[in-house]
Amino acid sequence: MTIIQTARYDMAPDTIAIVGGVVLTEEGLVRADLVIEHGLITALGTDVVLPEGATVLEAKDCIVGPGFVDLHTHLREPGKEQAETIATGARAAALGGYTAVVAMPNTDPVLDSAFVVRAVLDLGAVSTCEVAVAGAITVGRKGESLAPIAELAKLGVQLFTDDGSGVQHGGVARRALDYCRGLGVTYAEHCEDNAIAAGGVVHEGEWSAKLGLPGQPASAEEAMVARDLLLAGELGARLHLLHLSTSGSVELVRQAKHAGINVTAEAAPHHFTLTDAALESYDAVFKVNPPLRPEHHVQAIIDGFADGTIDAVATDHAPHTPETKDLPFDEAPPGMLGLETAFSLTFERLVLGAKMSIEQLFAVMSMNPARIAGLDAASSRPYGHTPHGKPVAVGNVANLVVIDPEATWTVEGSSLASLAANTPYEGRTMHGAIRHTVLRGEPVVLEGKATR
Ligand code: DOR
Repeated sequence: MTIIQTARYDMAPDTIAIVGGVVLTEEGLVRADLVIEHGLITALGTDVVLPEGATVLEAKDCIVGPGFVDLHTHLREPGKEQAETIATGARAAALGGYTAVVAMPNTDPVLDSAFVVRAVLDLGAVSTCEVAVAGAITVGRKGESLAPIAELAKLGVQLFTDDGSGVQHGGVARRALDYCRGLGVTYAEHCEDNAIAAGGVVHEGEWSAKLGLPGQPASAEEAMVARDLLLAGELGARLHLLHLSTSGSVELVRQAKHAGINVTAEAAPHHFTLTDAALESYDAVFKVNPPLRPEHHVQAIIDGFADGTIDAVATDHAPHTPETKDLPFDEAPPGMLGLETAFSLTFERLVLGAKMSIEQLFAVMSMNPARIAGLDAASSRPYGHTPHGKPVAVGNVANLVVIDPEATWTVEGSSLASLAANTPYEGRTMHGAIRHTVLRGEPVVLEGKATR
């Protein structure tokens, strides 16, 4: 056992202990208890003496690891607070095992100015998970003139994207990539060529034909993936590709990584657990962008995780009110909830499905996304954050999740913490659950329940 003296951590919650679990440390998974004082891990081992009065979190048969980090969360505030607020989205995130999320910029107003970004960061600072911001690349996400990227980077913004839509003009994308490279920040693309997508609301194929809905082909995504990889390679810029969903996209990224291009990629749980056959119900809860695809694309995403081509699970958590989701299919907005179901889906499909180990699950849900978002080291910028995505070690800030691999639970949209209820997994029994989430030493989720 190692014990260190710590400076009192600013948020200074009570002393807590997490006992009886298997802990993901720098040496791999080990049986250990841990003590957290004033936000910092102060003891870790099998012979830890629990401080008197410590709040004890039971972790028998559970795994303790770094809290998850979501690269892709739509928090909807400002502008659509009837669907989600920063407080409700952060609570859903904590219940999903997340200690940090990156808020997407397609709010109203758009996150394209220091004023609005500050407002989001201020609200995030008092919520139950740390909230970072992805700034817009272009003013108003219109794809024309560049947003004040340098000014937003000074606030600590690390990722820039017009997510919700791709940057259509190759010249604008190239200039933005170059600008981001100069500033040491990352250009993140929603890959969708609008001209090729031609207004398609589902994947173009068997189900678009059967249902009589306009389809968009896989090439609408792949054309922009290819363009951006070429541009990033030429400029030496850092590129992150959002919510990839096709076999061609995975293959393009695989080849680009072999060629040494500085690219990372994410995929969402719905793209490795659902196919477009779900559209049979004609229910807009299955409408999402990029759309659900046939099985061979789903398999390609899974293979992309298995061989490390895809770096991160990202939820693309997209809350929508019942009023909007109940509109006719082609009028309803795309998007589905993700924060509270992502861990169980990843655990079931990729770990229980023998595609990755539990250590790799922590890599794709915590370590890699923390690194991609620049959240893996402390930042003392005006809106500082604590480090996420680190193996559990003495001296680290306690941003932790305790998962129960044996637990099962059933999804009920109306019982989720998110303000909206648009989950495509209604009634599905899930394997693996979040037992506790600890943010800067504070248990924000205890025995599966939010504490505030
Ligand atoms: O399905 C989606 N919903 N895809 C996006 O890119 C945007 C998101 C939203 O904001 O609802």
